Amino acid sequence: MQTIRGFRDILPEKISLWQKVEKEATHLFKSFGFKEIRIPIIEKTQLFARSIGEVTDIVEKEMYTFEDRKGDKLTLRPEATASIVRSYIQHKMYATDPIRKFYMVGPMFRRERPQKGRYRQFYQIDAEIFGVESAYVDSQLIFLLNQLFKRLGLTGLSAHINSLGCPECRPSFQKVLLDFIESKKDMLCENCLRRMDKNPLRILDCKIENCRNAIAHAPATLDHLCNECSDHFNTVKKALETQGVDFIVDKSLVRGLDYYTRTAWEIQTTTLGAQSAVAGGGRYDGLVKELGGPQTPAIGFAIGFDRLVEVMEQIDKIPEPLPLDLFIISLGDTAMEKGYHWSCELNQKGIRTEIDFRGKSLKALMKRADKLAARYVLIAGENELIENAIILRNMNTKEQVSLSMEDMIPELIKIFKK
Ligand code: HAM
Repeated sequence: MQTIRGFRDILPEKISLWQKVEKEATHLFKSFGFKEIRIPIIEKTQLFARSIGEVTDIVEKEMYTFEDRKGDKLTLRPEATASIVRSYIQHKMYATDPIRKFYMVGPMFRRERPQKGRYRQFYQIDAEIFGVESAYVDSQLIFLLNQLFKRLGLTGLSAHINSLGCPECRPSFQKVLLDFIESKKDMLCENCLRRMDKNPLRILDCKIENCRNAIAHAPATLDHLCNECSDHFNTVKKALETQGVDFIVDKSLVRGLDYYTRTAWEIQTTTLGAQSAVAGGGRYDGLVKELGGPQTPAIGFAIGFDRLVEVMEQIDKIPEPLPLDLFIISLGDTAMEKGYHWSCELNQKGIRTEIDFRGKSLKALMKRADKLAARYVLIAGENELIENAIILRNMNTKEQVSLSMEDMIPELIKIFKK
């Protein structure tokens, strides 16, 4: 049996970089006042269709959607934002404190064509802030990402930022865009032609080369912002500059989800081939209301955890796991029973101890101790028990001492807690 295409195991040898990233990220989130939220992996299909947008690649082509035994249409979450908004509304969080900051880490599912950096089950580190309209929050989130990457020792990443406007300025932009697209109609793919009526902005996100050429000089939202959006974007840029966060204004950045308003961004790398976005995010001031809550500004981002780890693998050695403190060799039934209790006690005290219960020979077990790179080995056979002199061998210096059973545990604790 094999994993299904686009799904993979992350094996213990690889896990330490994942843990390092998660530890840094959660530490940083907490210092910015975020709280962890956990959301279901499956939601009603409607939730994603209405928030991400019916006419997006994710909803049209990539969702794992199925009917359960009662015929309800359900979907494996392709992202976290929609669910977190649902949760914010469902639990009426806006009523007690509209300002909320959440983070979550977990798997997402999209049926894309698998390649390096692109999987059908992938992981995101997601952060969302509700209830604040200020542009300083936009720059604060980009600053946070910048800090995280710095702490992880990553360089060569660039923040691409854009403004996608708001319901005030978007209709007039859409008109200008449609006029332009009309003149390029014969170069567009079927998908784009279909999207002209339903959601012309999506054409700007088409990945097909002909379409990309056709829209190369298309009008950009950034040149058609209303005054409020323009002021907002200027404040974001100024606040980033003041904090020394480098960014590139990228007029062509549109993002693949429909809910964005105003600031949108991606953190890109040049080292992962086609899958250049390590993180993406933006403001979505209309989504809470759209899904049935009160008008609430909101903003967030998601880091592609798999991609971030892949970038780190290029520069960072996988940290060595901590060595085993003690390997217990018990020879014979009585020694096995004693060894079992000693190991329980030492494990409880936080000392990395293992014991082998297979009843193998001393030679075989010494080999195993070497394989596990144990710092010390405890040897207890029938003789050692009778003489109340258990052998403790330092595997590094090869020195051996004998310990009485009464003193043994306190002595070991002294050695390992140093
Ligand atoms: P997104 O741009 O669709 O945004 O995904 C965020 C990140 O997830 C991407 O930049 C990429 O690193 C990673 N990612 C996406 N698809 C895959 C895949 N198939 N395999 C590996 N990594 C992938 C969102 O999901 C939004 N919910 C972000 C957000 C939060 N906006 C506001 N709040």
